[in-house]
Amino acid sequence: MKALVVKPGNRGVQLKEVSLQVENKIKIKTLYNGICGTDREIVNNSLPFVRPEKGNELILGHEALGKIIEVPENSKYKVGDIVAPMVRRPGNCMLCRMGRQDYCIDGDFVEAGIRGKDGFMREYFYEDEKYLVQVDNEIGEIGALVEPTKNVMKMVEVFSHFKNRIAWDCDDSTLNCKGAWVFGTGSEGVLSSLVFKSMGFNVTIVNRHPIPENVLNIIEKNRINFFDSSTNEWSRALKENTMDLAIDAAGSADVFSEAIEHINYNGIIIMFGTAGTGKLENGSFITKIVDKNLSIAGVEDGSKNHYIQAAKFLSEYNVKYSMHDIITGKFKPEDTWIFNEKPKNEIKSIIEW
Ligand code: BGC
Ligand code: ZN
Repeated sequence: MKALVVKPGNRGVQLKEVSLQVENKIKIKTLYNGICGTDREIVNNSLPFVRPEKGNELILGHEALGKIIEVPENSKYKVGDIVAPMVRRPGNCMLCRMGRQDYCIDGDFVEAGIRGKDGFMREYFYEDEKYLVQVDNEIGEIGALVEPTKNVMKMVEVFSHFKNRIAWDCDDSTLNCKGAWVFGTGSEGVLSSLVFKSMGFNVTIVNRHPIPENVLNIIEKNRINFFDSSTNEWSRALKENTMDLAIDAAGSADVFSEAIEHINYNGIIIMFGTAGTGKLENGSFITKIVDKNLSIAGVEDGSKNHYIQAAKFLSEYNVKYSMHDIITGKFKPEDTWIFNEKPKNEIKSIIEW
C-alpha cells in the first residue's frame, strides 16, 4: 500500500510503497487526513521530538478519518462504521493508566505520526478498539476535523476548572456578558472561536493583518468579531467586546503580553500555540498576572472523551456553523508540495485517499 513517509532527522516527505502487517485488530481504510503545523514542522525537520516506531522511517499523519473494513470477533464495531483514531497512546504512569495520557507525567507515551508510532497517512491501518472514536456515518469530510477539535474540547475542560474558582458566570447564569478573544486564524483558532461561541461567549478572533474573505465569511455567518491587532484600535475593540478569556492559538510571546495587558480581572488565559515566536519586553507582566488574579494554562492534546465531544460537536453544528467552509482544500497523496507550502487562504487542507 501507499504511505507518506518521513525520515526523522531529515527534511522531506515521500509517497512510497510500504507493507502492512496483518494484525488481529480492526482494519481501517483511510478516507481523509488533515494536515497541520505539526506535520509541516516534521517535514521541515524542525520539531525536536519526532522519532520512528521502528527502523529509521516514520509514516506521517495524526489527523484521520477512516472506514472500518474488517472487524475481529466480538467487536462492538461493524464493517462500514466511520471512525477517528486517537493520536497519543498511553505509557505506564498513573495518568496514562487512567486514560489521561494527555497529562502524562514522564513522557513515556507515543503519538501516531509524530513520535514512536506510525501515523495514518496511508491507505490502510490496523487499530485497537480502545483508540477509536465512532463518528456519524453521514459526517463526510468534516470528520477529518475531529482530531483538531478534540484539542479545543480540552481547552473547554481546563477553562471550566478555572472558571469554578469563583462565581464567574453572568447575572443571568449564562456566559453572554463575557468575551473570549482567540488569537490566530488558522484551523485551531477558527474551531476554538466556534466552540466558545456555542457556549455563549461573545467571541473576537484576532490576527495582525486583515484576514482572507473565506475566514471572514465563516466568522461573520457565526456572528464572531474580527480584530486586526496591527491597527492599534484596542480601546475601541475592547469597549465593544471585553476580554475575559484569551486563547493563544498562535504561540507568540507578543500575544501573551497583549492578553495580559488587556484581559479583565480574574481572566483566564489558555495557551495552545507552540511556535514560540515574539518576545516579552520586561518583567512588568508579572505584576499584572498577580494583581489581576489571572489563571494561565498550557493545553496540549486531549482525552478520548474530548474526541467524543468533538465528534458530537461537529455533527450537531455542521449546518449551523457551516463547518464545510473550514476545509479549504482537498489534495491527493501525490501532492507532497502542500507540506512545504501553505495553499493560499488555507484554514484546513485535507488529503483524500
Ligand atoms: C496534536 C496533539 C499532539 C501535539 C504534540 C498536535 O498537533 O493535535 O494531539 O499532542 O501535536 O505532538
Ligand atoms: Zn494536527
